[in-house]
Amino acid sequence: MAEAIKTISDYTVNFDKIRDDFPVLNQQVMGKPLVYLDNAASSQMPQTVIDRINRYHSSEHANVHRGIHTLSQKATDEFELARKKVQKLINAEYEHEIVYTTGTTDSINLVANSFGRKFFSEGDEILISEIEHHANIVSWQLIGEQTGAKLKVIPVNDDGELIWEEYVEALNENTAIVAITHVSNALGTINPVKEIVAEAHKHDIPVLLDGAQAAPHSKIDVQDIDCDFYAFSAHKMCGPTGFGILYGKEKWLEQIPPFRGGGEMIDKVTFEETTYNRLPYKFETGTPPIAAGIGYSTAIDYLNDIGMEQIAAREQELLDYGTEQLQKIEGLRIIGTAKEKASVLSFVFDDIHATDVGTILDQQGIAIRTGHHCAQPSMRRFDVPATARASLSFYNNKVDIDRLVEGIKKAKELF
Ligand code: ALA
Repeated sequence: MAEAIKTISDYTVNFDKIRDDFPVLNQQVMGKPLVYLDNAASSQMPQTVIDRINRYHSSEHANVHRGIHTLSQKATDEFELARKKVQKLINAEYEHEIVYTTGTTDSINLVANSFGRKFFSEGDEILISEIEHHANIVSWQLIGEQTGAKLKVIPVNDDGELIWEEYVEALNENTAIVAITHVSNALGTINPVKEIVAEAHKHDIPVLLDGAQAAPHSKIDVQDIDCDFYAFSAHKMCGPTGFGILYGKEKWLEQIPPFRGGGEMIDKVTFEETTYNRLPYKFETGTPPIAAGIGYSTAIDYLNDIGMEQIAAREQELLDYGTEQLQKIEGLRIIGTAKEKASVLSFVFDDIHATDVGTILDQQGIAIRTGHHCAQPSMRRFDVPATARASLSFYNNKVDIDRLVEGIKKAKELF
């Protein structure tokens, strides 16, 4: 993660004003001003992104990569512009290393299927951690059923941090890939991804990083991290749903086969044989989510205007404040206390179910997520059925956290 900027006077943007960019935040829910703290599930879109999507629908809509006509060419140019912006955003070496997908889950499924079909065989191991999202567990189990490869799981300690010695120990000649989250969606743990990659590369093992919860909150540099694949979603980064990115190193994308067949991904088709398109189009088929891609392109501009370092610093400040306030509530236990942590506050009470906390908060206009967060093994590790999770974005403020604390206290009184 980017190094946190230490004091508020270092901000070059006015974060309290930034809230006004997000129309959805300016409403009442249950008769109270909305406090939106479910950003790990999906962030909100600023007006510029909404306007851009509307403009595409109202005056620019056409299919991409298929038409000679002006509208189609314009749509193609705008859609492809997002690829250049993503390349720059994550510092990929080549634009063709950026593959459009429908989101992180789709990106991971693509790698599991394409990489797995090509390289997995009986006895191979897929090394994951104990705190993965289901997308980074089940996708591998499915390809494992077809190829004989098996999951091997690196445990975490009581703070939710990867146990380094166990990781080093687990790497061996059977490890076919390491697939690990950059930031845990359920606990907020930030994994030491650069070190993880360096260690795997000592054995020539490629690494996929699930960046869904990291890319929205910090500056990502895939060349510096040196990961082989990096997956993330637009809708957690002020963009629309239905659009995501798979970054893959050229050498891997060249070697692995396409995941889906159809138009766009081909070079020449006969009934006997098909040859495939160049990168990245070999992996892109069917009419893509064009409006979402164009909207995401504007979301990247928006985030860049603020600056990812500023965003990381603001969220760290809010996380520190939130942690401090929640720790004062009697009976509340924070799940996920890693030293390196992103802006996720997962918590439980021994005598109040997370769903009840979430319901009482909702009645006060406060949106959080409750449940297993699509990470059931993480819950099992901490021996809880579910947590209540408040996840912060740079457009939140201390008032939101104070309202959360008040809301939790009310839930305590009621139960
Ligand atoms: N994976 C998303 C979350 O953590 C949806 O809420």
